[in-house]
Amino acid sequence: MTVPAATLSASGSDNAGDADSILERQRARESSARTYARSFPIVPARAHGMTIEGTDGRRYLDCLSGAGTLALGHNHPVVREALRRTIDSGAPLHVLDLATPEKDDFTDALFETLPKEFADRARVHFCGPAGTDAVEAALKLMQTATGRRGVLAFTGAYHGMTAGALAATGSVAVKEPVPGGGAAGGEVTRLPYPYAYRCPFGVGGERGAELAATYTERLLDDPSGGVVRPAAMIVEAVQGEGGAVPAPDGWLREMRRITRERDIPLIVDEVQTGVGRTGAYWAVEHSGVVPDAMVMSKAIGGGLPLAVIVYDRDYDGWLPGAHTGTFRGNTLAMATGAATLRYVTREGLAERAATVGARLTARLEGLRSELPLIGDVRGRGLMIGVEIVDPEGPLDSCGSRPVAPGTAARVQEGCLARGLILELGGRFGSTVRLLPPLVITDEEAESVLERLTEAIAEASASATSSKESNVSKSSRPTGVSGRAA
Ligand SMILES: Cc1ncc(COP(=O)(O)O)c(C=O)c1O
Repeated sequence: MTVPAATLSASGSDNAGDADSILERQRARESSARTYARSFPIVPARAHGMTIEGTDGRRYLDCLSGAGTLALGHNHPVVREALRRTIDSGAPLHVLDLATPEKDDFTDALFETLPKEFADRARVHFCGPAGTDAVEAALKLMQTATGRRGVLAFTGAYHGMTAGALAATGSVAVKEPVPGGGAAGGEVTRLPYPYAYRCPFGVGGERGAELAATYTERLLDDPSGGVVRPAAMIVEAVQGEGGAVPAPDGWLREMRRITRERDIPLIVDEVQTGVGRTGAYWAVEHSGVVPDAMVMSKAIGGGLPLAVIVYDRDYDGWLPGAHTGTFRGNTLAMATGAATLRYVTREGLAERAATVGARLTARLEGLRSELPLIGDVRGRGLMIGVEIVDPEGPLDSCGSRPVAPGTAARVQEGCLARGLILELGGRFGSTVRLLPPLVITDEEAESVLERLTEAIAEASASATSSKESNVSKSSRPTGVSGRAA
């Protein structure tokens, strides 16, 4: 791998030997399910803002941000100060779910960010500290409240790896090896998510979204449609792992209407989209939809593990201990989370994400004519996807070319060689995903564009000679859990 001088720090590569032996031990000892460590064979030693420095002294721009967790980048002063203050205060670091000043303050900070209509009627439940546990909690809450079992979930969805969340997830690659495909988590009806570039109805555009809504409504009302009235619908306003696919606002409003008219609770999974990432504090706000429950994790802990559900009090029919768990009182995460939530508001970082995201998206869109490997550029705010295609493949009925996962993997490798970390996602892992921290500077945004453009140009040059690597449409694992959607 060649690394441009610009990505080498003054300390050079004195510890390169250490890095190699650490990587080798990790390969030998860790489970074969490890994922990011495969795509990024680096050993981070230090990190600040958007930059990670490896033990070998190489520096990388981190456009993955802990899969969207690090809204403020690495080691932000606000987060470090909250950590130091809390540790120095002598506060207990673990007290199950007892009331603490930190929990009280976090709850205040969180409720201040919520749409008023929702906040006024909201209850919060602290979950085991992972998005997937919060998804389980939300599904279980609605199953308890409605006395129904089934769940409505979407093509391309990602909700996590535990049984119920996996059942609601779309990725066949991660479900197929598990007998029952995670069905232990419940009965899931799969509905079409509007994805203009690979429209489930083969028409794309607004018409595709209209058909997706019509299909949903008619299926639910069809007495022979096979769908027993479900406990909930769960949806992402922008699919993250699914390839940065934003749902049209009008379609989301239709989902709200359809669910409300049929007394089906609507759960919006904001695990990846929350805390300013899409250009609004919560992605669902773009559409004006008020859901019945929101699932939150990742950025709400300021980089430390934290997950909650927030929901309308009418659904609070749980008995004490209905969704318990040992690690539901992470004092440090509540302190760093509260500090992060307030900083994002104070500094207008959602607006900044909208501005920088629009600029990046427009620039990438502008490259399409000269780099036909770029099939589609989409996203919202700083959640951007660049779908890599075979430029010589046939056009389908939506005017889209076939996916090119092998080429996308080469783009990712080319980025890493240029000191840029970014992940693949979407169908067959063919979408390059940009998830920079919300504090990305204009200069960093330019560097990201420059390195990504070079990597795509390089992959274009080699694409013709290695066409066969795309043909198999490999289901190469991408993301946290090999979760190419
Ligand atoms: C939308 C969404 N829901 C749920 C999850 C699961 O969160 P976790 O990996 O913390 O379990 C993720 C993780 O990427 C996600 O993007």
